[in-house]
Amino acid sequence: MTYKEKIDNSNLPKHIAVIMDGNGRWAKGLGKLRIFGHQNGVKAVRETLEGTIELGIPYLTLYAFSSENWHRPQKEVQALMELLVSSLTKELPLFHKHNIRLNAIGQLEDLPVDCQKALSQTMDATRDHTRCTLTLALSYGSRKEILHATKTIAQEIQNGQLDIADITEEKFAKRLYTHDIPDPDLMIRTSGEYRISNYLLWQLAYAELWFTDKMWPEFTREDLFLAVLDYQKRERRFGKTSE
Ligand code: IPE
Ligand code: IPE
Ligand code: MG
Repeated sequence: MTYKEKIDNSNLPKHIAVIMDGNGRWAKGLGKLRIFGHQNGVKAVRETLEGTIELGIPYLTLYAFSSENWHRPQKEVQALMELLVSSLTKELPLFHKHNIRLNAIGQLEDLPVDCQKALSQTMDATRDHTRCTLTLALSYGSRKEILHATKTIAQEIQNGQLDIADITEEKFAKRLYTHDIPDPDLMIRTSGEYRISNYLLWQLAYAELWFTDKMWPEFTREDLFLAVLDYQKRERRFGKTSE
């Protein structure tokens, strides 16, 4: 039996979030430049997206560029931005074919103008697609996101639109970039690192975490299926007891 055949379709995660890590080390291992790793990471994105579609999982979120990644060498940052624009153009037929809606979270206003344009064009072109929402976290940092939500709420209080006593978890979550997507059930990180790196800190509160030593360019849909199988073996208790 293949991994996919073993998966129980009645117990699928609704939302998978991924930290795509290890592009640089993978390239270095082959004696190539880091950028070569990023280019080969695109193939793994396609694999993951198609695996998600095959399983019928409605939400996939990919950490593509963090707020902290701006501090990398300018050449690498520029190459990543160019790769984003070219991939969006190239993958549009795939989005249409599989009925995928593109979404983006992060401080998008900090992205180069051509990136912002490519993003908004692709989001517009796919806005009515319903099978899967692919969210790209770009210039994303969870602490910044939480601060942004806090400031929004403070402003609403100052304007007299909201009472302090009425701030609930639900209302707070509505001010996050992820206001229209459910919390992830499963978080996958590649490259053998066991950390969250400022990713969806609020939203991952009860996610199951899955790690692999594979570098991101080596990740395939079979790895995704394996992660989902492992997820299905776990008991999610949400702080309660099993009974
Ligand atoms: C992940 O791979 C891609 C981005 C963070 C943009 P890295 O570039 O972090 O690769 P490593 O972790 O240095 O190997
Ligand atoms: C996290 O990976 C960010 C992305 C995958 C986009 P990093 O490589 O930037 O994180 P650290 O430096 O290992 O924590
Ligand atoms: Mg890394």
